[in-house]
Amino acid sequence: MKKRLGNFAVIGDPVEHSLSPKIHNLFAKQHGNQIEYEKIRVAKGLFVAFVEDFFSNRGAGLNITLPLKAEAFEIADTLDEDSKSCQAVNTLKPVNGKLSGFNTDGVGFLTDLEAWHGIAVKDKRILLLGSGGAAKGIVRPLLSREPKTLVIANRTHASARALADQLNSENFIGIEGLGLDDTQLMKKRFDIIINATSAGHKNSEMPIDENFLEDAICYDLSYGPAASFFRWAESSGAKRSIDGLGMLIEQAAKSYEIWTGFSPNTESVRARIRNDLGI
Ligand code: ATR
Repeated sequence: MKKRLGNFAVIGDPVEHSLSPKIHNLFAKQHGNQIEYEKIRVAKGLFVAFVEDFFSNRGAGLNITLPLKAEAFEIADTLDEDSKSCQAVNTLKPVNGKLSGFNTDGVGFLTDLEAWHGIAVKDKRILLLGSGGAAKGIVRPLLSREPKTLVIANRTHASARALADQLNSENFIGIEGLGLDDTQLMKKRFDIIINATSAGHKNSEMPIDENFLEDAICYDLSYGPAASFFRWAESSGAKRSIDGLGMLIEQAAKSYEIWTGFSPNTESVRARIRNDLGI
């Protein structure tokens, strides 16, 4: 018999273009249940009041997107290892009157990269573009796969270096933090290039020169209109280019499993969403 699993939502600002309601409704259908899943724009200052109100009114789970992941990290009573390491939460679940916080971005990224695209990180030379929230969410999962080298390159050199220093002070070694215009960077070549900048959201120039693309696999954490790095790499000589839609669906699947215990089969959902978006 079909069950109503309660109310879910993705909150952020902006949030109107979120695909999460569509994705989670497809998961629920596969699960044989019904959910209410909304997208709700919540300003930073209203976050705490919103979350308290949501979970005292049949709220069964929240996804948190930009710019609220650090606020969600602060409000959670318990945290999983992934959210602790990047200090950001994208999934909240009420458990016995307390809030459990999780971060499923890293698992979503690795599942898409490894299981769906068959790409192994071990012993590869990796370039990570950007050192903001998106980069922090995937960098430790990436390092857990033991790449040969990791260079973090960012428009603002100091924050790439700060992230590299932080990682080197944990259990990782030899991570470099460079500016995008650093001559050191120009001399290097990479097997995998990951775009974690938000440049594509702003129609900005590409963060790197196309010489880097030769023989490289490119992965853009953005999808849809914002995935200009993905489209540029595809048409400018990269060996392969992958957008962030698969990661979005895989991180959502992990959230759905955390809330309901059901692990969706993402194959049909991936195909359906790509088909609906025409990408
Ligand atoms: P997110 O949480 O999505 O990563 P963020 O924390 O604001 O967002 O970080 C955005 C990242 O994109 C940063 O690394 C930013 O570089 P700066 O630290 O120099 O701001 C990078 N970025 C944004 N616009 C960019 C552009 N036009 N070219 C290159 N990098 C850009």
